[in-house]
Amino acid sequence: MKPFSFIFLIAAFFTSCEFTDGNIDGKTVKEELRHRRIQRLTEGEILEKAMQMGDEITSNAQKTLVTQLSAALAKGGTEYAIPFCKLSALNILDSLGKPYQATIRRVSHKARNPIDKPDTVEAVYLDGYLYNLEQKLPLEPNVQVLRSTQEVLYTAPIMLSAPLCLQCHGNPETEINTATLALLKTNYPQDQAIGFKLNEFRGMWSITMSRKELVMSLQKKK
Ligand code: HEC
Repeated sequence: MKPFSFIFLIAAFFTSCEFTDGNIDGKTVKEELRHRRIQRLTEGEILEKAMQMGDEITSNAQKTLVTQLSAALAKGGTEYAIPFCKLSALNILDSLGKPYQATIRRVSHKARNPIDKPDTVEAVYLDGYLYNLEQKLPLEPNVQVLRSTQEVLYTAPIMLSAPLCLQCHGNPETEINTATLALLKTNYPQDQAIGFKLNEFRGMWSITMSRKELVMSLQKKK
């Protein structure tokens, strides 16, 4: 048989199949497509919900952090305010995190507290932000399903956006006072979080949410 006619035969075979079984197959295919579309929509909805929750948690946490830090600075100066940059000092973390069983962390490439160094998954996203920074690309919040654990990871950049941050993260010679510097060195012997400039990239929010909780909250709404 010539190759040409062979190809033609195959083509005819497939075409005829389509016509004869069209009804049954078409129905199954339609069902399958509908099913897949629902699944895809749900995945999109979950990520959208996670993005919304992440934005809400980080903007609330950031606001509370700045308010409490400012109040502490006004009350007792920089040394007194040192413990107020701890996330655990914010009593909102529980109330914000609980609904989605969220774990809220800040991680940094130049961490003050060693527990704020990124884990292997976080490092991927932190490096992503550092890469974007180098390439002068925008730094955006991001959501991602972690296939290994079926959790959703929300990340967002943290910028050193208020001048008050410099009192503890700025230039050690000109912006951090001697007593504060000494106290920071005692409390954080491995401190890498000094020498930052205003509006510099300081680190990343890392919020892990339970996918199941997100799905359940979306289902409740429907
Ligand atoms: C009064 C001192 C002080 C001020 C002001 C301050 N911080 Fe901190 N910051 C700290 C301390 C102390 C830690 C370590 C907290 C801990 O042990 O969990 C820290 C930790 C952090 C971390 C977590 C990562 C790491 O390095 O451990 C980020 C992010 C951060 N600060 C950002 C900021 C930003 C942004 C501002 C301004 C809004 C700010 N800080 C103002 C003292 C300060």
